[in-house]
Amino acid sequence: MKYLSTLVLLVTLCYAKDEDESFLPEYIHPCTLADEEFEKCVRKQIVESLPHFANGIPEMSVPSIDPVDLNDIIIDGSGLKLKFSDAKMHGLSKLKLADFKIQLGVDNESFILAVKGNLSLTAQYNADGRILILPLKGEGDALIDCRNIEVNISSLLEHVKGKDGKEHLKLLTPNYEYEIESTTFDLKNLFNGNKQLAETTLKFANENWRQLMDDLAPPAVKQIVKTIVKAINKFLSKVTIPRIVIGYKERL
Ligand SMILES: *[C@@H]1O[C@H](CO)[C@@H](O)[C@H](O)[C@H]1NC(C)=O
Ligand SMILES: *[C@@H]1O[C@H](CO)[C@@H](O)[C@H](O)[C@H]1NC(C)=O
Ligand SMILES: *[C@@H]1O[C@H](CO)[C@@H](O)[C@H](O)[C@H]1NC(C)=O
Repeated sequence: MKYLSTLVLLVTLCYAKDEDESFLPEYIHPCTLADEEFEKCVRKQIVESLPHFANGIPEMSVPSIDPVDLNDIIIDGSGLKLKFSDAKMHGLSKLKLADFKIQLGVDNESFILAVKGNLSLTAQYNADGRILILPLKGEGDALIDCRNIEVNISSLLEHVKGKDGKEHLKLLTPNYEYEIESTTFDLKNLFNGNKQLAETTLKFANENWRQLMDDLAPPAVKQIVKTIVKAINKFLSKVTIPRIVIGYKERL
């Protein structure tokens, strides 16, 4: 009987250990900190995992970020009331890494991540007012294509004690900046389907896309960055540092 309980205990311990050596997707491999190619190694990891990561890692409760559900976006000013609801941003899984830097094992650990590519937003819109000189009124499906959007995110890395009692990395509230090369708007059913009015207004809106994007992009990009950071932090909360960085000295 004693023998059996020892066995049970051993088995339990092994399982506990297994759990602790937590799940890591096969496409993620640790990098060695002492290696002078460390940054290059992490960059390669990111390039290879980005498309997988963006589709979520259910085993680690990392949600999919393609599409990203956005909160309602309301533009209310300069004579135009424009509301986007049920908004979704598509394309994060197809973004390419434009730049990456990481500082680990120094005083202020940080990283910079720049991604670029095309994103599109689908939503229901409701518009009433005018854009510059033209009236804009209607409600229906909206499709907004952003071409060559580039987002740079920089963040300090913090060390936190996880629920597992172990040390994990965590991104702090990041700084970010972005640029968009061009945008096209397609608002269906403008002016109750009056084609001629709709065409004129859409053409005008697209020629003056920056005016609309100045209001629309900041809340959208803010939510995108927040979503990316949340997903990365979910991931980091599930892996201990030694699991992804070989030769790293824990600090806590
Ligand atoms: C780290 O950050 C602190 C506080 O922002 C700053 O005072 C210090 O100079 C930084 N150290 C390095 C090595 O950058
Ligand atoms: C973005 O879209 C344009 C045309 O719509 C295409 O030429 C370009 O290759 C796309 N960029 C990426 C990174 O997919
Ligand atoms: C993002 O970072 C890259 C590389 O550091 C830089 O060339 C680019 O101008 C930055 N873009 C924005 C929008 O800040």
